[in-house]
Amino acid sequence: MRDIIEGREFLKANFLDLEAISTDQQKKLDPPPLEKSVENFISEIELPVIDFSKFSQQSLTEAFKQRRSHRKFTEQPLQLEELSYLLWATQGVKETFQREGRTVASFRTVPSAGARHPFETYLIIFRIDSLEQGIYKYSAIENKLFLLQKENDLASGIVEATFGQSFTAKSAVVFVWSCIPYRAEWRYDIAAHKGILLDAGHVGQNLYLACEAIGAGTCAIAAYNQKKMDELLKLDGKDEFVVYLSPVGKTK
Ligand SMILES: Cc1cc2nc3c(=O)[nH]c(=O)nc-3n(C[C@H](O)[C@H](O)[C@H](O)COP(=O)(O)O)c2cc1C
Repeated sequence: MRDIIEGREFLKANFLDLEAISTDQQKKLDPPPLEKSVENFISEIELPVIDFSKFSQQSLTEAFKQRRSHRKFTEQPLQLEELSYLLWATQGVKETFQREGRTVASFRTVPSAGARHPFETYLIIFRIDSLEQGIYKYSAIENKLFLLQKENDLASGIVEATFGQSFTAKSAVVFVWSCIPYRAEWRYDIAAHKGILLDAGHVGQNLYLACEAIGAGTCAIAAYNQKKMDELLKLDGKDEFVVYLSPVGKTK
């Protein structure tokens, strides 16, 4: 069992430790790619252009007032454009920066320490209009979805991996965020880890608020079995692993 006081160290700002070492950025090592490339996929889906006028009827103040965690969803599917809106709200790329022909940084709809954006977004899709059930990966840079897996027992897989939280499998789609720690460690080394989880909070809250604009709801989930979730998404659990998830469904 880890010592609880020692465990708290991770919550503190560890920037002083950086004075003793050189980060990989200071050593002039190449920055890691902005996002993981998808090598093996079944199909790719272009996301529709979002008509924002459909989704901006409710004020932000109203969204703050209405937001709560939802664990009951209707059977109604989400439209692909609504899914596209939620993806944009949580990871949407607003601007990219190139150096020597490479895209080296991005500004997005969410803030991120040092603009490192250390997450990948996976979707476990149950009910999205026009998409078959399966596990997909979102490319924020290309604004595309890649279908990765079409296994039949996704419902039992996600329930088992979340310690029996059965409402996850009643959702239209489960957003699952993995992190690639090196993307942040390249700049911040040991001080990166606190920032990664702070960044995840922004992504989760944007999803809560964006759901309000489409008559949907979500519930943040951090109680999951790390090994089972990583296995479900076929992640190595070392250089990339799940940090947070959020099932989404229609509530009205
Ligand atoms: C980091 C985090 C982890 C959470 N994990 C779970 C979870 O595993 N299961 C669950 O049912 N709710 C989970 N929740 C939702 C909280 O229980 C919920 O936000 C809290 O009860 C307050 O309710 P509200 O969101 O409706 O205001 C989590 C929320 C956060 C922010």
